[in-house]
Amino acid sequence: AVEVISLKEITKFQSRAEEFFPIKWYQEMLENSPVYYDEATNTWHVFKHKDVLEVLTNYEYFSSVGTRTTIPVGADNKEGSLPEKTNINFVDPPDHRKRRSLLSAAFTPRSLKNWEPQIQQITDELVDQMKTKSTVDLVNDLAAPLPSIVITDLFGIPIHDRMQFKEWVDILFQPIDTTKKAESEWKKQEAAKAYYQYLYPIVVSKRENLADDIISDLIRAEVDGERFTDDEIIRTTMLLLGAGVETTSHLLANTFYSILYDDTSVYQELRENLDLVPKAVEEMLRYRFHSSKRDRTVKKDNHLLGHDLKKGDVVVAWMSAANLDGDVFENPFTLDIHRPNNVKHLTFGKGPHFCLGAPLARLEAKIALTTFLQAFSRIEAIPTFDLEKNLTDSATGQSLLYLPARIYS
Ligand code: HEM
Repeated sequence: AVEVISLKEITKFQSRAEEFFPIKWYQEMLENSPVYYDEATNTWHVFKHKDVLEVLTNYEYFSSVGTRTTIPVGADNKEGSLPEKTNINFVDPPDHRKRRSLLSAAFTPRSLKNWEPQIQQITDELVDQMKTKSTVDLVNDLAAPLPSIVITDLFGIPIHDRMQFKEWVDILFQPIDTTKKAESEWKKQEAAKAYYQYLYPIVVSKRENLADDIISDLIRAEVDGERFTDDEIIRTTMLLLGAGVETTSHLLANTFYSILYDDTSVYQELRENLDLVPKAVEEMLRYRFHSSKRDRTVKKDNHLLGHDLKKGDVVVAWMSAANLDGDVFENPFTLDIHRPNNVKHLTFGKGPHFCLGAPLARLEAKIALTTFLQAFSRIEAIPTFDLEKNLTDSATGQSLLYLPARIYS
């Protein structure tokens, strides 16, 4: 079994709001302890852009295979575990190559083009519902439902089952509540079983009626003569849900938070020039996605980070801190949608494991923001909003539960 390492003892954040935007801590670590060893957890931590790159790309020395990790995974039963064929997170090249090719079958540039109208339509429906209100909740009206509806749609799941689907996903990917560990684990296992039983007949019937959706793409996928079984497909969809739903919601919610609170001129500027939206999204990924980090296990003794690292040591690469490294980004602690090199951010990782869903996440963010900008002339924060009270523990650190704003047509 894999041991999950808790980082709370290392970061020692004093409040949810601090964890939500740990910019001061990142700044301090970048300046004073760019390569930091924590005795209590026996882990190394790197923050500088060049060191994070080294750890993520040099898989001969920094392996994705290990017995300790900072990333809690799905449910601990058969239904909730990944089949070997798509267990791509915890494997190194060359084995990684074949597994990734199998999974990539569902994420070709062609599929992305085909999906655009569907994503646009789902976004239009959500934004249309907002038009009837003067105060909206950007989390529950848009950021939370959008990625979840999009992925069910792309899977080819019937519309009337979407709410049930979201409930399972929320349970499966909530971090384990350490005060109620057994209960929390049991709930996840039950959700994994229910999800599995729900999806099984859908996958079986799709084999007979292949369509233009992700489950059909996984049925068709073949690499070196290998294909997926029904069981493998179901458990693989769980990987995509875990990787793609909460992360994208987090990006959307934080983008709106930033528009409301970081720089209130951004909204008008984007409205006047919608071509700036993709660049603005990159800057949000750099500046406002604060919890991107990955761990690796040292495979061979080395001195690549300027310290003696021993085989078996765990190294955590803090991508969100690297995104604020002054050696790469000028005035890193300022939001600047015109920043020429903001695409150098490491929020989606780098190297062999670079996020497979990055084009989909970027497309959803672009469509959501553009559609919103076209619908509303102005947006304003609500003065009584209390950030600390509206955050919750999530797979992405702290996530917004609620984000109110006044909108004007
Ligand atoms: C891998 C972040 C959205 C599917 C990764 C990795 C990161 C990441 C940092 C690298 C892991 C590593 O190096 O070990 C994000 C962020 C997202 C996002 C910040 C949204 C803003 C998505 C979406 C999907 C997805 C929408 C698919 C529906 C995957 C998969 C991998 C991955 C399958 C594993 C790739 C591999 O190990 O080869 N993601 N992701 N992600 N992501 Fe994403």
